[in-house]
Amino acid sequence: MIQVDVARLKEHIGQKVTVKGWLYNCRSKGKIHFLQVRDGSGTVQGIIIKGVLPDAEFEHVGKLGQESSLEVDGTVREDTRSPTGVELDVTAVRPIQDVKDYPIALQEHGPDFLLQNRHLWLRSRKQHAVMRVRSRVELAIRQFFDNRGFTLVDAPIFTPSACEGTTTLFEVKYFDEDKAYLTQSGQLYMEAAAMALGKVYCFGPVFRAEKSKTRKHLTEFWMLEPEIAYGTLEDVMDLSEALIVHLFTEVLNTCKQELATLERDLTKLEDVARGGFPRITYHEASKLLATMDTGFVHGNDFGAPDEQALAQHFGRPVMIHRWPAEIKAFYMKRDPADPTLALGVDLIAPEGYGEVVGGGQRAEDLQFLLDQIKAHQLPQEAFEWYLDLRRYGTVPHAGFGLGLERTVAWITGREHVRECIPFPRMLYRIYP
Ligand code: 4AD
Ligand code: MG
Repeated sequence: MIQVDVARLKEHIGQKVTVKGWLYNCRSKGKIHFLQVRDGSGTVQGIIIKGVLPDAEFEHVGKLGQESSLEVDGTVREDTRSPTGVELDVTAVRPIQDVKDYPIALQEHGPDFLLQNRHLWLRSRKQHAVMRVRSRVELAIRQFFDNRGFTLVDAPIFTPSACEGTTTLFEVKYFDEDKAYLTQSGQLYMEAAAMALGKVYCFGPVFRAEKSKTRKHLTEFWMLEPEIAYGTLEDVMDLSEALIVHLFTEVLNTCKQELATLERDLTKLEDVARGGFPRITYHEASKLLATMDTGFVHGNDFGAPDEQALAQHFGRPVMIHRWPAEIKAFYMKRDPADPTLALGVDLIAPEGYGEVVGGGQRAEDLQFLLDQIKAHQLPQEAFEWYLDLRRYGTVPHAGFGLGLERTVAWITGREHVRECIPFPRMLYRIYP
């Protein structure tokens, strides 16, 4: 008897196979048990008819609790009504552990209870589907950049200095004397790598001590950060749009069952996959907001209501570029046509998912950066290596960061990013 993943049972119709997994649910009707067995790759219904198993075993199987681990032998039968396309006519069941009182029953629980039991919650159908989509998105990201000649360069996690401003740094003790920080962004290292390898990206965890308790904030999240030597703001807008189109197309093509489990409105995803996102300047966005009732003050960063209003106005992802320099990071290049503006861009997702991409063109001039480091009260010593990039062969360059969890929340239609990372870290949560 061969062991087969539930996802591949369709290739074994008519054969006797073994499935190794966990009991998701068992219903009984007279002399028949209907077992839902999941093995991580999918869920299959097994039919057990009294008489096929010895009576005592038949009784025992009917009493196995949810999440009991077991091995099931049976013959694969085609069944067009089932999501996997097959059912199993069970001939033997070997319980491994009979579980009683699994904490997450098949009924509704509150978010705190579920988060406290995240290690078990991951087994639930919707969480399982979100993790599968996340995995697919990560793969699609790597394929996208690999196909375009980018080199993956891993950025360090311990860093000596800030990238995105000093207020959200996690500090760690680094041996006796020194302090280090957990990285907020790999960008500065990608700038060095781009000068060595041309087109690069990093993709890993970053950390922000943000005291925001919103549906969009984690203290540890994954960021994708490409950086392009000789790249411009235009290149960043083109590349980030092409990436989003690719990710949505890939998930639509390869995660049909997961999206169905999540009851995601596919027309929303199909629209994003068509591309052609509107691109407006901060000034244009500001004028639009003046006609709306969000309380927006020109010159400020957008708040959630502003992002929501803009996204709703366009009904599509929208790119906002050329921001007031004072509300953006020290490394941004100024617009030659108006030096009060930074050549940065944010991509705002519809449906309340907020800013998914942030990036732009980097300042390549040494003196300008020295002045900015002073103006932002950053310690110049810590940035000497970064300034070297402007001393030795400086060129225009650009890049962006995409938040993985916000992207996955958007694709899967989850209300909160905490469901889009296996073990979320937030202001008040670091367990399990
Ligand atoms: O806009 P941010 O801060 O940009 C940077 O860090 C740049 N250095 C990136 C670059 O140009 N290489 O962050 C980028 C993205 C945001 O658009 C958002 O999607 C996500 O990271 N993000 C968060 N996601 C979850 N929780 C948080 N607290 C996040 N903060 C930012
Ligand atoms: Mg940003």
